[in-house]
Formats: sequence, C-alpha cells, structure tokens
Amino acid sequence: FNVPTPINEPVKGYAPGSKERAELQQALKDLKKQQVDIPMHIGGQEVRTGNTQRISPPHDHQHTLGYFHEGDASHVQQAIDAALAARTQWAELPWEHRASIFLKAAELLAGPYRARINAATMLGQSKNAYQAEIDAACELIDFFRFNVFFMQEIYKQQPESLPGMWNRLEQRPLEGFVFALTPFNFTSIAANLPASVAMMGNVVVWKPAYTQIYSAQVLMELFKEAGVPDGVINLVYVDGPVTGDVIFNHRDFAGIHFTGSTGVFQNIWKTIGQNIHKYKSYPRIVGETGGKDFILAHHSAHPRQVATAITRGAFEYQGQKCSAASRAYIPSNIWDEVKGYVQEDLKSIKMGDVEDFSNFVNAVITEASFDKLARYIDAAKADDSVEIIAGGGHDKSKGYFIEPTVIVTKNPQYVTMCEELFGPVLTLHVYDSQDFEKTLDLVDGTSPYALTGAIFAQDRYAIDLASKKLVHAAGNFYINDKPTGAVVGQQPFGGARASGTNDKAGSMLNLLRWVSPRAIKETF
Ligand code: NAD
Ligand code: ALA
Repeated sequence: FNVPTPINEPVKGYAPGSKERAELQQALKDLKKQQVDIPMHIGGQEVRTGNTQRISPPHDHQHTLGYFHEGDASHVQQAIDAALAARTQWAELPWEHRASIFLKAAELLAGPYRARINAATMLGQSKNAYQAEIDAACELIDFFRFNVFFMQEIYKQQPESLPGMWNRLEQRPLEGFVFALTPFNFTSIAANLPASVAMMGNVVVWKPAYTQIYSAQVLMELFKEAGVPDGVINLVYVDGPVTGDVIFNHRDFAGIHFTGSTGVFQNIWKTIGQNIHKYKSYPRIVGETGGKDFILAHHSAHPRQVATAITRGAFEYQGQKCSAASRAYIPSNIWDEVKGYVQEDLKSIKMGDVEDFSNFVNAVITEASFDKLARYIDAAKADDSVEIIAGGGHDKSKGYFIEPTVIVTKNPQYVTMCEELFGPVLTLHVYDSQDFEKTLDLVDGTSPYALTGAIFAQDRYAIDLASKKLVHAAGNFYINDKPTGAVVGQQPFGGARASGTNDKAGSMLNLLRWVSPRAIKETF
C-alpha cells in the first residue's frame, strides 16, 4: 500500500470579508483575552516549575500573552529519561503507523488548528497573516505530507538478491535520543526538526527558542492530538548552554537536528568533538545556520523585476527569514530605475502590528535584535561614505519597529555588506555594468555563507556564467526570482559553507540522516 501522493497545501489569501479572515481574527481575539500558562512537556506530563517568564508580542511589548515555566538541568535529564523509556516501543511500531500520525497532523493543521497556529505565530513572532500562513500552516503541512512520502521511498529501497539468497536493508532508528534545537523565525522549521526525526522512529528532546514558545505549545498540542505517543517528543524550556551541558555529555546522545546561527552551531560541533569518546555511536550532526543572501543583477535584467525581488526578498518578515536578501549588486545602467521602484515600493508599504492585515512589515523579534539593528543603521547615518536611500527610522516605544532600510555603498566590503544582521536592512553596491565578471567574484568571496542567492538577467550567457562561478555560493539558487519562499517538495532547502550541512529540509537526504541501515543477507 502506498501513502497518498503529496500535494502542496494551497495558500489562503485572507481577503477582507472572507470566512478564513473572520476565523483568524476570532483566533487572535481568543488568544489575546487569555494569559496562557505554558508548561514543559516531558514523558506526556505537563511540567510546571513555578519559575515563570513573561511572553509578549514583539510589536506590543507591554501586552502579556502568557507565561512559560522555565526548567533547569534536572528537567533536561528527565526529558532524556522519558525519551529513552519510550524508545523501544516507538522504534518497533511499523512505519505505516508513524506515517498515519503525521498525515493526521497535516490534516489537523489544514483544518481545526490552522487559525490558532497562525494566530499564535502572528502574536508571538510578529508575522503578518500572509507570512504566518505560508509558514505555520502551508510549509508545515507540506513538511508532514512530503516527509511521509519520502519516508516510504526510503523504506521501499531494497537491494538485489541472487537465487539462493535474500538481501534486505533494515532502516533502524538511531541508537539513543536526538536533540532538536530550533530557531524563532519559522514555526514550520521549529516543528519539522523534532517531527522529521521522530517520523523515522527516533525519540527526541526538543528545545525551542524562548521567542517561539508561544506557538510551540500549540504544536505540542497538535502532536498529541495527532497521536504522537508520550515520551517520543519531549519539549523543554531550559537555557541553551544548560541544556547543551546535559545533552552533550550523555552516552545515549545520538544526533542533533539544529537550525539557528552559525556561531552557536560551530560551538556545539566543537563540544561534540571534545566529548566524542563519551558516546555509544558517532552522533549525527545536521544544522542549517546563518546566511548573507544576495541579489545580483546583470545589465540585461528587468529593473521592475529586480526591485520587486528587493522589496519582497529583503523585507518580508522584517528580513528575518534565513533566506532573506541582505546584500545586492546592481549594475549602473539600471540603477536609477531600480532605485526609483524600490523607493516607491517602500514608501507605499505599511509597518505596524499584526492585527491590521494591511501591514506589510511588523516588529523585529527582540529588544536585543532591535538595538543591534538600530546601532548599524545609526552608524551608517553617521558615515559619509554610504547613503541611506530608504528607511533608516526606528522606534521601540511600543514594539520593536525598524523601517525597511536600504544602505548604498561604494565599498563592496562595507561592514553591513559582509555581516549577517538578521533584520530589515539591505546593503547595496552599484557596480559598473561592464564589471559583471568581477562582481561575480565579489559575490562569491565577500561572505563565508552560502544559503540563498538570486541572479537577475535576460542574457542567457550571463545566467550560465553566474551559475558556474557561483556554484558553491548558495544552496538555493534562484534565476529571475527572489531568494525567499522555497516550497517543500519543489525547492529542497538548505545551505553549505558556513550556512549549514545542506541536508535539505523536507527531503529524503534529510530523513536518511535519522536512520542507521542494517544490511542483512540470508542464504538458503
Ligand atoms: P540562535 O542560534 O540564537 O538560536 C537557535 C537555538 O539555539 C535556540 O533554541 C537557542 O535558544 C539555542 N541556543 C542559543 N545559544 C545556545 C548555546 N550557547 N547553547 C545551546 N543552545 C543555544 O538562532 P535564532 O536567533 O533563533 O535564529 C536566527 C538564526 O537562525 C539566523 O542566524 C538564521 O540565519 C538562522 N536560520 C537558518 C536557517 C537555515 O535554514 N539555514 C533557517 C532559520 C534560521
Ligand atoms: N521556505 C523558507 C524560505 O525559503 C525557509 O524562505
């Protein structure tokens, strides 16, 4: 029997007057009127420590959405114990049952959970309705459906046998538990990291970013209702280094599924290396990390197309997508036109809270992020060598609002051209239209990252040259399209170099990291 052939979940538009908009508005209202008390989940038990921390929307930091219960090292140990206790029964469950659980999760999310997960993502992470819909609803539904399909493909693959023998490949789960360490910026990624590991028969300790806990609690409810058994996914809210200290010293630590910043991942890798003698098996290390994603235009590019890619690719979700463009290289011949369009676009978009559905830009995630971005913007304002052609304003009195900002520099090595800022700031270099080839070297050499990148050109030779010279500059490479918005099953997502191990989320490649095959030969 085959699992259903996956199709991408259609994106809802939330048009004024639509039923889906009314449902989402109701979900926002319902969430806002209660102050939720959010426990950890260990072995199927809700764990409250009494050490509570406040959660507020980034766009309205005086409002209280609720409180979560922070744990300590003992809770991480309890989560590991609960995971290991659940391991054998879960690992031995035929894969079709695991498939059913995650297919059910997809249907629950497409139906009764959709408004609530979107509303929680909007309030907790300051995403507008459209950005929440393509993340928390559609991308996550796609992860569940496509991963179930890829899982089946993995189990189906069997070696050849000659007469007199029977060769088999058994895809065993890893021997131990896996640690899912997840970021704030995509609810779908936060859910997919533990879910894809669990789907392959593994047990998980999951630590989300504190800034994503508000939607993580809805995800945990979803997993439970879909039928994920107690102890298979254990959710703890414990300080990162404290959690790491328990996890990376444990003999049964079998792997980490990480998404977050490069520095954190590199330190984790070092710690695992130092502790390697402590583990029963070599741990699987899978991480998607930082980026300095680019837009590069050739002199044959359409200015309007380039400008749209900048507005959407750099500023949707306040530039806090890992895929967001944060540096651009524009040839002098089309610069005036591109500049005019970008300024016009950015003047017309609105910034504000998430409940006004016409706001394109909302708040950045934390005060720390706001302060860092404001510092870079103010430094650019004070620097005569650069020009701010759009934005530059910031205000944290009510929420952490940073205007979409475009810094133009003559220096292609200017600080914001090189460093990942993770916010609505794009730095742009105008190059001599004749210097396309030289600019390709700049694009390739300016940053250690290689996550996403986009080339705009009508000239086929230019596209070919860019594809060849930038072969290692991006794990996701776009031709005449913005560098954001990869769709599961269509553009498998992940970066190389300092951007990650490139095990492509939502692909067979990724799921294969969570099994340890046993080859069996039987002779007759
Ligand atoms: P982050 O690295 O700050 O946090 C990620 C997770 O690690 C969180 O759960 C955090 O609490 C935890 N953590 C932080 N420091 C730790 C430590 N010392 N020990 C153990 N755990 C620790 O990242 P973030 O701010 O949540 O997300 C933004 C970053 O994630 C950006 O760099 C972005 O590029 C990257 N990202 C990459 C992708 C991708 O696919 N490549 C996708 C999303 C986000
Ligand atoms: N699918 C998300 C994007 O590409 C990660 O922006």
